[in-house]
Amino acid sequence: MLAQRLKAPSQDNPSNITPMGFIFVCTDKSEKYMLESLTFPQSKAYGHRVFAVKPEDYIFLYNLDADTLYGSFLAETEGQYDPNLELFEGKYPYYVKVKTIGKIKKLKNASIFLSKLGISWRDYLTNKGVRALLSVLEGKTAVKKDEGYIDKDYRPPIFSTTLWDYPKQSYGTTPKGNNKYPGVTPAFIIYNLIWRYTKPGDLVLDPMAGSGTTIDVCKEERRVIAFDIVPTRKDIVQADARALPLKDGVVDLVFIDSPYGDNIKYNDHPRNIGHIPATEERFYDELEKVMVECNRVMKEGAVLGWLIGDQWAKGVFVPVGLKIYERLTKHFEPIDIVCVVRRNQASNTLFWQSKALQHNFFLRGFKYLIIVRKSSKRKLKELNIKWSFYER
Ligand SMILES: C[S@@+](CC[C@H](N)C(=O)[O-])C[C@H]1O[C@@H](n2cnc3c(N)ncnc32)[C@H](O)[C@@H]1O
Repeated sequence: MLAQRLKAPSQDNPSNITPMGFIFVCTDKSEKYMLESLTFPQSKAYGHRVFAVKPEDYIFLYNLDADTLYGSFLAETEGQYDPNLELFEGKYPYYVKVKTIGKIKKLKNASIFLSKLGISWRDYLTNKGVRALLSVLEGKTAVKKDEGYIDKDYRPPIFSTTLWDYPKQSYGTTPKGNNKYPGVTPAFIIYNLIWRYTKPGDLVLDPMAGSGTTIDVCKEERRVIAFDIVPTRKDIVQADARALPLKDGVVDLVFIDSPYGDNIKYNDHPRNIGHIPATEERFYDELEKVMVECNRVMKEGAVLGWLIGDQWAKGVFVPVGLKIYERLTKHFEPIDIVCVVRRNQASNTLFWQSKALQHNFFLRGFKYLIIVRKSSKRKLKELNIKWSFYER
């Protein structure tokens, strides 16, 4: 198995694009437990990385306090989640069981070698990256950087600010939705929402699923149910988002990328809200019915993310995002607004760029991701953050 995993990349073994290595972190406090139990737990902040692990992937252990790297280990299981894991007061519920490969090797001053290789412990390592790290652990110190050591596209980053930008619609080796579908959602948005606001096993709803991006993102890590007025695939159920065939209070997270007006032709169904122009108040009235219906099926405290863009057409600007925000906050508590950079727009051509300068208007550069919560009883102090003032 080992030899096969490290076989040189070739046509029938394209493992140069398969991420095969993960660096898990520990501290002086947790190192002993991890090395003895061969159970590598991580906190919620790194749950998404743990869930990316497949059996037989290479795992390295990096002690951040001691700047020491241990290896090598092979994952025995996929990433696991156990909220009852007692370890360190339940703060590390995501874990992988590993086995050792031969005698465990130890590399001191690991950050120097990682930096020479151009690898961060947060990266997803390719087969080539694994080999490079293995050779360093074997004592070969003449190493150099190589872009091929990391797979930047295996999973999108989890953003910590309210500006989200990712160059591609999809990620990883399987498609997420259909990037030919008009108005397809960038998959990283849904990925970020589920890792922030749900845990494995939770139920995610997309009531306007289009080409099914939400399904493809969630099926790797969550339960998911999706509807559309005109389903484009078998795992989307036909329904009007204003009357969902679901019981009250069953959903943990809703994601919606609704029509932004009548700028895109999705289908001819008479109940398609995308036939109504964003200049008409009726458009917001119908979307408000969708909001009320989502609220009904959501659990107390559940989160909803609504992706929406403004419109500038035929000389008229409509702040669709602000109008949707106003309607949403009639029914939900606001959490935040994220600015999502628009890429691969049909209008992003030299022709439209010169028209925008010539006639002094702007092309749409961002969308709003409005994040709200169904009447939460959760208090800020439950977040357990020590707040302080900072200079602007
Ligand atoms: C922006 S697209 C969704 C894109 C989708 N997230 C994806 O990644 O492919 C909006 C969708 O809303 C659907 N839609 C419009 N009116 C609807 C309604 N009344 N009920 C359910 N879906 C509706 C359209 O058919 C269209 O597929």
